[in-house]
Amino acid sequence: MEILFRTTTILLILCVFAQKLHGIRWLAIKLSSEEYWNRTDCSKVHGFAGEQYKICRRSLSVMKYVSEAVEMSKTECKSQLKNRRWNCSTIAKAPSFYNDLKRGTKESAFTYSLASAAVAYSVTQACSIGRLEVCGCGRTPKMKLENKNWLWGGCSDNIAYGVRFSKKFTDAVEKKRMKGQEPTATSRALMNLHNNEAGRSAVRDKMAVVCRCHGVSGSCQTKTCFRRLSDFKDVATLLKKKYDTIINVVSQTKGRNKHMLRPRRGKRYTPRDLIALDPSPNYCRKSESRGTLGTSGRECNPETTGKGSCAYMCCGRGHHTFKREIEERCECRYIWCCYVKCKKCKKTITVSTCN
Ligand SMILES: *[C@@H]1O[C@H](CO)[C@@H](O)[C@H](O)[C@H]1NC(C)=O
Ligand SMILES: *[C@@H]1O[C@H](CO)[C@@H](O)[C@H](O)[C@H]1NC(C)=O
Repeated sequence: MEILFRTTTILLILCVFAQKLHGIRWLAIKLSSEEYWNRTDCSKVHGFAGEQYKICRRSLSVMKYVSEAVEMSKTECKSQLKNRRWNCSTIAKAPSFYNDLKRGTKESAFTYSLASAAVAYSVTQACSIGRLEVCGCGRTPKMKLENKNWLWGGCSDNIAYGVRFSKKFTDAVEKKRMKGQEPTATSRALMNLHNNEAGRSAVRDKMAVVCRCHGVSGSCQTKTCFRRLSDFKDVATLLKKKYDTIINVVSQTKGRNKHMLRPRRGKRYTPRDLIALDPSPNYCRKSESRGTLGTSGRECNPETTGKGSCAYMCCGRGHHTFKREIEERCECRYIWCCYVKCKKCKKTITVSTCN
């Protein structure tokens, strides 16, 4: 009886622990990016864990941009993967996820990296446009410009501040978990930390140098240049490439308490690659245990091959094609001054969906 009781307790503790195995619960933040935060907002409702409460209370002015990062992550995740079997719709489940995002899959890898990138991005942007008192323009970049008549000037984006904040906030849960000795928790934490960092690197790598001309009208004798973030879409596209070339890893213990992740197959990985511990299901069929919704009813394109095609999307189950009537804006005219007036037209389109 006592043994049974003990086992149950241990199992319960393990379950509770497993429940906490995700550092993207904060994607549940419900305040819109329009709203300012106060101390009472730093609560459980928003999916914070551990150190994140403290960071929230200490950095109330920055939290608005964490809300913005949540919106950016969700939008880009869905948009990047809209033609895939796994299309990121389960991200809406935050703070409690299905197994697709609870396990160490490549979908987790992509989501973590994107979320961490988004925090770095939106905080950096807020610094440069002067929305935050705690940070301003970035330091003058150290790299050399192509031409000696060009000078660094203007406001370079403060990527250092954004990255530092993102690291503190998004790594907080994993850092805590690293201190526990439970091996699967530790390897998951290592995986998440790696992918978080890869996300932030993508923001840094996609920064561009922008220059402006000066001098007697149009002569462009001198140029001043600054480093600027590119569109977040470009960052997300880069991360999607990493998702498509995911490196599968296994955990390895070296000596006491020294955990590391090594590639499952020969290939090494760099800090910029995304890594995954668990294989992904093919997402073809609905399965609660795998956390997959299946592709039945998904729209597909019978005329292409590759991703988005019916052959890929429907996993060999076939599709059916039907006509659907939609309403569209049409015959738009510009009315002086200043708006556009349109009619509504009905239009029949052909749609294919998976069986
Ligand atoms: C904090 O913000 C919430 C809404 O987000 C509001 O309901 C509450 O009254 C605010 N509290 C204080 C002390 O301003
Ligand atoms: C994403 O996939 C889910 C489940 O297969 C589906 O219900 C949803 O409509 C899809 N979303 C988009 C934008 O295609």
